Amino acid sequence: MAKTIREAGSFLLLFGVVFLFSLSTRSLSFTPVDNYLIDCGSSANTTIDGRVFVADDRNSFDVIAPSDILASTSLNSLSSALYSTARVLTGPSSYSFSIQKQGYHWIRLYFFPFVAQNYNLKTAIFTVSAEKIVLLQDFQPPSDSSILKEYLINVTSDRLVLTFRPSIQSPLAFINAIEVISAPDELIHASARTVLPVGSFNTLSEQAFETMFRVNIGGPMVTPANDTLGRTWIPDQGFLLEKSTAKSKSFTGNLNYRRGGATQDTAPDAVYSTAEEMNSANVANTNFNITWNFTVDPNFTYFLRMHFCDIVSTALNLLYFNVYIGDWSASRDLDLSALTSSLASPYFIDFVTPVTDKSSSSMRVSIGPSSIPGVDPNAILNGLEIMKMNNSVGSLDGLFAANPSLVIGSKGKVGLILGLALGSSALVLLLILGLLFCKRRSMKLKKHQSKSWIPFSVNGANSHSTVSKFSNATTVSSGLNSSLGFRFSFAEIQEATNNFDENWVIGVGGFGKVYKGTLRDGTQVAVKRGNPRSQQGLTEFQTEIEMLSKFRHRHLVSLIGYCDERNEMILVYEYMANGTLKNHLYGSELPPLSWKQRLEICIGSARGLHYLHTGSAQGIIHRDVKSANILLDENLMAKVADFGLSKTGPDLDQTHVSTAVKGSFGYLDPEYFRRQQLTEKSDVYSFGVVMLEVLCARPVIDPTLPREKVNLAEWAMKWQKKGQLDQIIDLRLVGQISADSLRKFGETADKCLAEYGVDRPTMGDVLWNLEYALQLQETAMRSEPDEDSTNRIAELPLRITQLGASEENDEGREGYGSAGPADDLSDVSTSKVFSQLFSTEGR
Ligand SMILES: *[C@@H]1O[C@H](CO)[C@@H](O)[C@H](O)[C@H]1NC(C)=O
Ligand SMILES: *[C@@H]1O[C@H](CO)[C@@H](O)[C@H](O)[C@H]1NC(C)=O
Ligand SMILES: *[C@@H]1O[C@H](CO)[C@@H](O)[C@H](O)[C@H]1NC(C)=O
Repeated sequence: MAKTIREAGSFLLLFGVVFLFSLSTRSLSFTPVDNYLIDCGSSANTTIDGRVFVADDRNSFDVIAPSDILASTSLNSLSSALYSTARVLTGPSSYSFSIQKQGYHWIRLYFFPFVAQNYNLKTAIFTVSAEKIVLLQDFQPPSDSSILKEYLINVTSDRLVLTFRPSIQSPLAFINAIEVISAPDELIHASARTVLPVGSFNTLSEQAFETMFRVNIGGPMVTPANDTLGRTWIPDQGFLLEKSTAKSKSFTGNLNYRRGGATQDTAPDAVYSTAEEMNSANVANTNFNITWNFTVDPNFTYFLRMHFCDIVSTALNLLYFNVYIGDWSASRDLDLSALTSSLASPYFIDFVTPVTDKSSSSMRVSIGPSSIPGVDPNAILNGLEIMKMNNSVGSLDGLFAANPSLVIGSKGKVGLILGLALGSSALVLLLILGLLFCKRRSMKLKKHQSKSWIPFSVNGANSHSTVSKFSNATTVSSGLNSSLGFRFSFAEIQEATNNFDENWVIGVGGFGKVYKGTLRDGTQVAVKRGNPRSQQGLTEFQTEIEMLSKFRHRHLVSLIGYCDERNEMILVYEYMANGTLKNHLYGSELPPLSWKQRLEICIGSARGLHYLHTGSAQGIIHRDVKSANILLDENLMAKVADFGLSKTGPDLDQTHVSTAVKGSFGYLDPEYFRRQQLTEKSDVYSFGVVMLEVLCARPVIDPTLPREKVNLAEWAMKWQKKGQLDQIIDLRLVGQISADSLRKFGETADKCLAEYGVDRPTMGDVLWNLEYALQLQETAMRSEPDEDSTNRIAELPLRITQLGASEENDEGREGYGSAGPADDLSDVSTSKVFSQLFSTEGR
């Protein structure tokens, strides 16, 4: 049967070949409609391999930048002349390109940080986005080498805006050269194969890609001049796991391009004319694989294009081989003869796959002999491309979506951008700028010279303003979204909270009371009113404003404003209709959350924490991760709250530490006890405890329980080690969780709770694992629920639980630090630890 189908296929192919022979001969090299090559920062054109990179004139490319700074270096060891000049961007800036033909475009960005007269480009850390796609997040180019980044983006409008935004901790961004070039629409097909599970990925056209590796297997480097699409192909030797397994083969005849196969734009002839095949002479047993190993970011999904061309066989139907991605079979008994009906015929297969070996960040591609009897063992691969695909927030680097408030559309918005960057001084500076622009027009550009028309410190100082100058509200808000009415008057707050109506209190924290409020425009808010101002409280107040205005994220509770009138310390947050996660887990009458909801809440909060940890170069530790600090909005979307303790600054006082310790007892990282050193892995530990709370729906410390059950983390990990975590889950989840999902969840919690921080995963890893657990749950739910009951947790009729008894008692032990003194708790050693913490942290 299969054979008949294959024969039929060959027949059709033959017809196709006859019919299309004329077409294949007319294949001329591709001419891009849009073709922008810019030598940024240069006032003259630069020709590289016959390609002209034009001078960087801000008027021809619609460049928007706070100032027009062109920098250059006289270093002569550069790999390309393009790297000798750069445009320096001291605030949010953009290059905007008019697109004649929508569709796929290459975006190539060249970076080389050098030290110019007034600017040290090595200090640059910045984010680059192309419309809604984040290309680079908080990117710091390697300080001693040049780097070329290549992206393939499907442009769906008639303008492409590349935005550069310096990070909070950096004064500038820069760019040495840019290419924006049309790519053939046929380059990316609508769908690709998936390997686990076997299927297809059908939304390729919605993806943005970043080239990670483009390899000419078995052949030499191919430079842009030898590729119709200006790509670079590198040799494969460095990626071979065992060089002795592979033998390079090259072919000098003409390649047979066939309909349905590759075209001359898919990859250059040079790629299809070389391959690696099995080097059986070197290995006694002919049953082995050739494996290439690539290091990639495990948090992304990848597009793999494998190029094949049978240049090793002497006749058709002699070569059958297997292809693997990681340990998964990607193609079994691949028969190129059947696919192309001729030898030396270029062909490619596309795959979409997550990283198979997450722990080592490795993407392995292997080829090996087929097990069909009587076939000579051999396998080939001619080329391989590995491209990263954007994640669900549209990013190719990190977990944050493009910041829409800083996507700059046209010249008309220059005022706004300057406003954002420069705050209240914008008007004055605009005037100065205006004058300078006019002046510049009449001036000839001096070659290779930095230009700085705005004193650097003016811009730098303002965009880094902190809340230290409290009396000056504009200084504070300059770092914030200007659309927010950031500073409230005391009267506005009184009105919003019905003059601090006790009936409107929705929470009490270490900082003070939290009121529900309604602003004049109807916006519901949560108003946190600090106890009368003390120097300590003030620090915490400032920390929180600073943190929340720097770190804006969907999964962090956002700050709407503050009030510091009359010595008040009032913070106004977005209102989270569904209160704390803790409240939904136990100790209330609220309906139970489903497993899927719980996973989504964990994923959301993990995202928020991951952002805190990685959203800036120095990384922010939350220090007080607990279910009471995870808030849920009206759609049960999770947001992490309470940043008063976040900053690990040197001036933290005792109150903070004691509050943190009291509030978080049961969540505290044991390594913190030992080393008195807080790292982001302490948050990971606490998050692990939250995960168990989510699963078991009980307080993290419950002294009313028998000794071995008092501490949730210890108790649950005992069951996890026995592989019986299912015995202690929330009764209301029984029968709901797929066994695979629970296993993944349990393993992840287990890793978070590792004794030593170094053994714990990062929040990014945790996030990935939780997403995987959710996927496993969804897969299980999609398959017939009754048919494979082995995949579910059996009902547990005789499970003994004490959860009910404990519910009444947790009040006052957790929450916002309003709890009683720490020695309420049965563990005597803790108070000693606390005093140690005070003495070390409280200096
Ligand atoms: C690249 O092109 C040049 C001239 O077009 C040619 O001489 C050279 O052999 C080519 N290199 C490869 C690797 O194909
Ligand atoms: C080749 O690699 C695959 C995937 O790792 C593996 O399953 C297979 O056993 C290997 N074959 C040989 C002959 O080692
Ligand atoms: C990539 O981003 C697009 C939107 O720009 C989105 O539709 C798509 O789902 C994203 N890809 C993945 C794998 O999440």
